[in-house]
Amino acid sequence: MSLARGDRPGPRVVLPEPCLIVLVGAAGSGKSTLATRLFPPDQVLSSDAHRAMLTGDESNQRVTRTAFAILHRQLARRMAERVTTVVDATNVTSFARRALVRRAAAEGIPAVAIVLDLPPVLVLARNATRPGRIVPEGAVRRQLDDLARSIRRGSLDADGFAAIHVVRASAELDTLSIGRGP
Ligand code: CTP
Ligand code: MG
Repeated sequence: MSLARGDRPGPRVVLPEPCLIVLVGAAGSGKSTLATRLFPPDQVLSSDAHRAMLTGDESNQRVTRTAFAILHRQLARRMAERVTTVVDATNVTSFARRALVRRAAAEGIPAVAIVLDLPPVLVLARNATRPGRIVPEGAVRRQLDDLARSIRRGSLDADGFAAIHVVRASAELDTLSIGRGP
């Protein structure tokens, strides 16, 4: 990730307009916090929000398939309308990421990944101590492993993203800003 110089304190991610932004990170890594800080709510599609819409419970795993089916349908519509969209889901596997990139590519829209590759100990602690929904530790560890493997084996690089921004420290995540490109 390129660090901005001069007056900006943190890394700056320059996004083409329109684009698809795919957040990638285990539960507890701070995806929704980042999305809330940087993007208007109407730009964000979230698998948890769809679970909540279907069942009243954002952690209800029974409706995962339906939640993602709705998310993908909405994404396809938004890409057809050429409106910038953020997908807030873990996206720690190539399978998940490629399905999203394909939706954007079908409309000729570039996809940009923002990868939250924070220290596992921090992610596990944030998940364990957050108010409300706590994801089972084993599930978070599996997601952390999937992400580490994606990075180690280079599968992230082969998923078709126009740009990949990796955030490795909490301070970077908190100061990351968005700029608009061509
Ligand atoms: N958090 C934090 N500092 C940050 C980012 C997040 O303390 N810079 C805390 C949040 O307040 C929250 C927890 O970490 O209590 C998890 O953040 P969240 O954004 O909810 O993580 P997600 O990646 O969205 O997790 P999930 O996949 O489960 O939705
Ligand atoms: Mg979240």
